[in-house]
Amino acid sequence: PYAAIGIEINVDYVTAVAVDLSGERLLSWRRSFAGATVTAGQAIASVAAIVRRVVNRMAKEERQVLGLTVGVPGLVGTDGSVRIAPNLGWHDVDLSGDLAKALRDPGFSVQVDNDANLAALAEHRFGSQAGVANLVYLTGEIGVGAGVILDGRLRRGGRGYAGEIGHIQLDPLGAECRCGRLGCLEAVAGIGAVLEHAALSPAEVEVELDEVVRLAHAGDPRTLNVLGTVGRNLGKGVAMMANLLNPDVVILGGYYVPLAPWLLPEVEAELRGRTIAPDLGGCRVVASTLGYGAAALGGAARVLDSVDSGRLPRVS
Ligand code: BGC
Ligand code: NA
Ligand code: ZN
Repeated sequence: PYAAIGIEINVDYVTAVAVDLSGERLLSWRRSFAGATVTAGQAIASVAAIVRRVVNRMAKEERQVLGLTVGVPGLVGTDGSVRIAPNLGWHDVDLSGDLAKALRDPGFSVQVDNDANLAALAEHRFGSQAGVANLVYLTGEIGVGAGVILDGRLRRGGRGYAGEIGHIQLDPLGAECRCGRLGCLEAVAGIGAVLEHAALSPAEVEVELDEVVRLAHAGDPRTLNVLGTVGRNLGKGVAMMANLLNPDVVILGGYYVPLAPWLLPEVEAELRGRTIAPDLGGCRVVASTLGYGAAALGGAARVLDSVDSGRLPRVS
């Protein structure tokens, strides 16, 4: 039997999953950095440690690891290097090269990709919208990014940087983004905007988010106001996607999922108001059912896609 590994490097945690050829989860693993930003060195060491552990576990089950894909919250070139990861503060990290050194000929393929791209692949293969040909996944992370599947294929663009909707300017007078520009979508519709305006510091995001959800359920006016504003900003971004790409579905992922009951109505209202195509061009908006693990799962999906398409030989 075989296994595929997916790993996600997020801003303050690294998470991994191993699946079999049918996508059945064999194990998952997570290391939190408790609100601190992961450095490239820490990320590489974590990935190497987890890969060693997973490979040993798989060997005990007589499973052969076919490959590994690592997702990163930033612009990943087609050569597997990270050009810019704004919320990590990384520039020009040769991640696939450094990983190859750290892993020392692991005997399987190692790929690096954008986190949103991988999450889109996971949705396309395993999610509630599996098989939908035109699918956009929007990450609700510290940053906002998109994985764009059109006509059944993930679209990467010239250098691999397609989908950077988080850095489209929504408000020329808006808050400063981690990329240095003003009023980017992610600065006004990312999870940081929710936490900041709710007067919560984005320390342990998931903990703070639980508090936002609790306040929203309790009808706290300030929290509802923040979620309304963020939802409308997000809706403008979704409407841009709808006008530009005519997706069948836009999936809100990551931290947007627990906030979906409050964000979705705002997003849908903006979409109705701003989409030029009749009937929204058929575009639906849904919350992801894959949860926080989507990008890691997508890493494994990318390995399985490579096997299916013959780019990765299945050694027996
Ligand atoms: C990055 C994207 C990434 C997104 C979500 C943005 O700041 O520019 O590449 O996909 O955050 O992590
Ligand atoms: Na992307
Ligand atoms: Zn930006």
